[in-house]
Amino acid sequence: MSATTGRSDEVVAGAIFRDGRLLLAQRVGPPELAGLWELPGGKAEPGESAEAALRRELREELGVEVAGAQRVGAGVPLAGGRVLRAYRVELVSGEPRPLEHAALCWVDADELERIDLVPNDRVWLPELRARLRD
Ligand code: CDP
Repeated sequence: MSATTGRSDEVVAGAIFRDGRLLLAQRVGPPELAGLWELPGGKAEPGESAEAALRRELREELGVEVAGAQRVGAGVPLAGGRVLRAYRVELVSGEPRPLEHAALCWVDADELERIDLVPNDRVWLPELRARLRD
């Protein structure tokens, strides 16, 4: 699309680390993804930066305030021309709650290997694992 569409075709996903663990959220739908775990996030709005989209989405989905947006791994092309990108964000305030997910969990490197991630997010396993093993 044209440059004026900016990054509105981006889907942002947030990686929050705390005490050697990564926050994952369990999807409620669609049926083929329900029960699988993901980095929480969603579609950026037209003209919205990745950082702003992450702040908005993680406030809506987890009830927390986050800051920053440091790219993690490769972008994943999605159907419809969108691109899914993961960003590391810092938890500024609030305790994450599953406002739009079935559940949340904090995984260490070993648990990350065993948990059923949504297929797209598996692309980032090497970077996420490396960060957890730091
Ligand atoms: O919340 P919103 O409707 O903005 O977005 P979403 O439905 O959560 O995500 C948009 C698309 O990105 C869907 O196809 C999701 O499956 C995909 N997605 C993903 O593959 N991995 C994530 N961590 C987040 C979203």
